[in-house]
Amino acid sequence: MTDKKKTIVALTGAGVSAESGIRTFRDSDGLWEGYSVDEVATIEAWQWNKEKMLAFYNQRRAQAASVEPNAAHFALKALEDHFRVHIVTQNVDSLHERAGSSHVLHLHGKLSEVKSSVDDSLIYDLGDKPVKLGDKCEKGSQLRPNVVWFGEQVPEIPNAQRIMAQADICLIIGTSLVVYPAAALVYDVPLHAPIFVVDPHKPAEFRFDRDITFIQKRASEGVPELVKHLIENHA
Ligand code: OAD
Repeated sequence: MTDKKKTIVALTGAGVSAESGIRTFRDSDGLWEGYSVDEVATIEAWQWNKEKMLAFYNQRRAQAASVEPNAAHFALKALEDHFRVHIVTQNVDSLHERAGSSHVLHLHGKLSEVKSSVDDSLIYDLGDKPVKLGDKCEKGSQLRPNVVWFGEQVPEIPNAQRIMAQADICLIIGTSLVVYPAAALVYDVPLHAPIFVVDPHKPAEFRFDRDITFIQKRASEGVPELVKHLIENHA
């Protein structure tokens, strides 16, 4: 028997986790929990002050582990009963997985993981535990958060592009689409696939003429409504 389920691809950003209690980036004046991007999210900052960076990410890791998935995360999980669902997220929290979603690609890495500073293939799962200066990988180099910083390559982009290109339907949820290369993934969505955007504000990267439905609502309200609509009309 062939599986005739359609493929839904959801590209998510900080807005999907906002109602779980994790602040977005650009709604808080470009600050991440009070810090500028330059201080805590660039490769240069890591070269200059590893201790501060480790402390910052230890806090973020503990915070992410202390919050719960919200109705938007759970609604995306529920879609799996009717569609093949792939989530491409810019978020470093694991709330999609904790809501039960099966296929989640993290473009910007995961807070729960650390990696070697000299070998990207040496990745370790920390859960919610802290990492400190002097904690080393098996090759003897300092462990660092397994997140993508500004100034670094985004190694998952080719995989994300392949996933976006499989979409029969695309959902864009809670992302301002101002950070590249992630924002350009919208151009990999096939032209025949309708795009639904859930965000209280209109994201930046929509300069093309195609079938886009804007749902200007918070994710916890807009995503469950959209999921109901998709199941009733597109499954
Ligand atoms: P942003 O902070 O840029 O955008 C968050 C989006 O979520 C905005 O469009 C808001 O309008 C929307 N939003 C806010 N509250 C919402 C809610 N309750 N429901 C739905 N939407 C809501 O975050 P991202 O687009 O995810 O990168 O940022 C992209 C990247 O920039 C991040 O992954 C991070 C950051 O610098 C790295 O760290 C490499």
